[in-house]
Amino acid sequence: PSLRLDVITVFPGYLAPVHESLVGKAIERGQISFGVHDLRRWTHDVHHSVDDSPYGGGPGMVMRPTIWGDALDEILTADATLIVPTPAGRLFDQSVAHELAAESHLVFACGRYEGIDQRVVDDAARKVTVRELSIGDYVLAGGEVATLVMIEAIARLLPGVLGNSESAVDDSHSNGLLEGPSYTRPESWRDLDVPAVLRSGNHAAISRWRRDESLRRTAVRRPDLLDKIAPGQLDRRDREI
Ligand code: ADE
Repeated sequence: PSLRLDVITVFPGYLAPVHESLVGKAIERGQISFGVHDLRRWTHDVHHSVDDSPYGGGPGMVMRPTIWGDALDEILTADATLIVPTPAGRLFDQSVAHELAAESHLVFACGRYEGIDQRVVDDAARKVTVRELSIGDYVLAGGEVATLVMIEAIARLLPGVLGNSESAVDDSHSNGLLEGPSYTRPESWRDLDVPAVLRSGNHAAISRWRRDESLRRTAVRRPDLLDKIAPGQLDRRDREI
């Protein structure tokens, strides 16, 4: 089972990093097929204009529906999910990454300026699943970097993309908690020692210690996450932390 990814943007060069590292290797191996499409290919006028002033007034420009409509008519397939990165979207988190990793065709529509005419989403939603998604509570200049973020988070969940030595099961967020600290050689460095329990060989004690560090770190840095953990997911010793 392989995943098809298409990205439509006025800045195709922004997507060049997908060919690096983990995602690049997955493309080389044929686990992901990837296409980037310049939106200006679907413009009609000599100026290749993609935007216009907003109805109702206000600052900025809105991307025109006619251009996007023609682009999506060509790129969307019947089984596609359309993803529209926008700070006004629902939050893209690890559970959404898992849902999208189970799809066969994802099309990312990158808006610049003040966004895309809403009818583009409304029209596409009559044919395919559309998800307007935000990667966090801050505003980027456009959807391209958000698309890179989502592609990387999704790709590493595909079977065979991560080696089994770097499995995704104990990632931060996969169990609703942050991961605790990690250590490697040397045992002592600049007067700082690796915690003794990690060198004890006592696997039960190591598991318990890692769980405690994970709980402590989550409580300090992301107390909002602890509130979302179902009571059944915490054992008696978790509660003592
Ligand atoms: N476009 C601009 N800001 C964004 C954000 N935070 N998430 C997704 N797309 C965006």
